[in-house]
Amino acid sequence: MSMEALRGGVAVITGAGSGIGEGLARVAAEYGMKVVVADIAVDRAQSVASAIVEQGGEALAVKVDVSTPDSIDALAATVHEHWGDVTLLVNNAGVETLGFTWELSTAQWEKTLNINIHGAIHGVRAFAPRMIAAGKPAWIANTASIGGLGMMPIQTSYILSKHALISFSECLYLEMQIKQAPIRVSAILPGPVATRIFQDGGTTIDTGSEQHRVLMNAMLEADGISGYEAAQRILPQIAAGDFWVSTHPEITREMAAGRAAHLTALGNPALPVEVLRGMGLSIDGE
Ligand SMILES: NC(=O)c1ccc[n+]([C@@H]2O[C@H](COP(=O)([O-])OP(=O)(O)OC[C@H]3O[C@@H](n4cnc5c(N)ncnc54)[C@H](O)[C@@H]3O)[C@@H](O)[C@H]2O)c1
Repeated sequence: MSMEALRGGVAVITGAGSGIGEGLARVAAEYGMKVVVADIAVDRAQSVASAIVEQGGEALAVKVDVSTPDSIDALAATVHEHWGDVTLLVNNAGVETLGFTWELSTAQWEKTLNINIHGAIHGVRAFAPRMIAAGKPAWIANTASIGGLGMMPIQTSYILSKHALISFSECLYLEMQIKQAPIRVSAILPGPVATRIFQDGGTTIDTGSEQHRVLMNAMLEADGISGYEAAQRILPQIAAGDFWVSTHPEITREMAAGRAAHLTALGNPALPVEVLRGMGLSIDGE
């Protein structure tokens, strides 16, 4: 399968008002897809959709809150009414929240898990039945992270959500096989991409997590590729039916190998002290 398979189809991308989702919307439109730019920040979604239309593409901005089942159901109904069958669904919306596990409020925990995990579940529940019933080749991709192959203290709520999205995607892939549905499932594992995710990231009020947020944001700004470049790397892999989709294949392979070795050895969780220092953290007692 090549990108040609997507041409003329309908793409629904959540969190498409910024960053990786915006990139995916633009690249999908360049490949001749009709693009639904779905985001809770409807102004941003509208400006992405307008830019696509100005360049001769087809796009529709829709406000959605992926953490709310009714909102995704309404999105699915709007898309179906407007453009019919969906070819590509990318459950991409996600948020960062930083702070020690016991210091995050219940509301912060719920927000992160509801958007990052339940958002993808609601997306599949709302869109997959029609995609399966249509009986045509289609694609579902969930944006996890290379963080789903490792551990990062202070980002616990985020990291566990990304581990969950990988296992969710693996089970979903197998469910499609059981149903012999022509739906390919991918887990997208982006490496560093310069987006607003750490600018918007919630923190606890302690200075440690705020300092960590600022450092992570600076790291993405310095080392991250653009959302557009990430999308140029991501979409052809999805179209090819790859399950594991990377923006930085070498880092992905290195982290997967590290995780496999760690589990094989049944070692205790450990991060090198220099990594912790790089994160602006010190070990208590140092
Ligand atoms: N930037 C990176 O380095 C990186 C690395 C790995 C994974 N990711 C993942 O990529 C995805 C996109 O992140 P990004 O970096 O482009 O961030 P971003 O903040 O630039 O974009 C995320 C978009 O999601 C939207 N959003 C937030 N809550 C929403 C909700 N409830 N409903 C609908 N939309 C909502 C935001 O308004 C925003 O436009 C996320 O799942 C993130 O975890 C990013």
